Amino acid sequence: MQDVAWTLSLLVMGVIAAVFLWVAAGASSTGGDAGAITREAYRLRAGLFWIAIAAGVAISFATLWSWPMPGHVAAAPKPDAVIKAVGHQWRWELDKDTVRVGQLVEFEITAADVNHGFGIYRDKHHLVAQTQAMPGYVNRLRVRFTEPGEYEVLCLEYCGLAHHAMRAVVKVSGQ
Ligand code: CUA
Repeated sequence: MQDVAWTLSLLVMGVIAAVFLWVAAGASSTGGDAGAITREAYRLRAGLFWIAIAAGVAISFATLWSWPMPGHVAAAPKPDAVIKAVGHQWRWELDKDTVRVGQLVEFEITAADVNHGFGIYRDKHHLVAQTQAMPGYVNRLRVRFTEPGEYEVLCLEYCGLAHHAMRAVVKVSGQ
């Protein structure tokens, strides 16, 4: 997907640069007939505008389907394990903390007081997955742990004096 976006961006930039150069070349070759150049530029711009609109609609339509919208989550496979997580000032409350490697784990994340950030780390600096923990909402975060070990849960949203103390551990056991 990144490669496609990158290639498309390069193509579009190339077209814009080509049009720019073409208009600039026209400006010198017509001996400075500003009116003709302006009309040509407006005509080109109108054409590019509609191409951009059509491309935008087509790309949005094609890519929106893979977005995690409610209707799509309903069609997604059932998770193998569910962990309910509640953020408090200043601790994480997990209703269970052990899963098996390879399982599709769904975290149902909310907060009891203020906004927190639920971040799952492997080792010290590798963020595996994260979402907001918000009072009144349940955010579902699906993770398939591919390596056994202890994963640290840290808070990613400054939530008061002991924000840094919000730690929990999810244990992922081998098969
Ligand atoms: Cu909870 Cu920062």
